[in-house]
Amino acid sequence: MTDQTSPILTARGLAKSFTTGQIVTKVLKGVDLDLYAGEFTLLMGPSGSGKSTLLAGISGLQKPDAGTVIANGYNL
Ligand SMILES: Nc1ncnc2c1ncn2[C@@H]1O[C@H](COP(=O)(O)OP(=O)(O)OP(=O)(O)O)[C@@H](O)[C@H]1O
Ligand SMILES: [Mg+2]
Repeated sequence: MTDQTSPILTARGLAKSFTTGQIVTKVLKGVDLDLYAGEFTLLMGPSGSGKSTLLAGISGLQKPDAGTVIANGYNL
């Protein structure tokens, strides 16, 4: 359930790594995030820092290795 003071989206401890051959790239290392309805949120960082990986994780497009995402009251 959500109300006007609770976040519309909450992420806790999001972790995601990619393995290419023997190289493991830890992209998300325990991301905590609260987004509130009506707020304007910017996601900034250099190329390769994990912006798209974070968006994929919090939108449910890509399953994180660890962590939880609650979006609009639903546990993704
Ligand atoms: N499917 C994948 N397989 C292997 N490595 C990946 C994959 N997706 C992302 N990565 C790696 O994860 C890291 C973060 O990539 P990501 O695309 O999230 O960065 P970004 O901040 O969105 O970059 P950009 O500003 O260029 O869009 C990079 O090192 C990238 O090479
Ligand atoms: Mg990107």
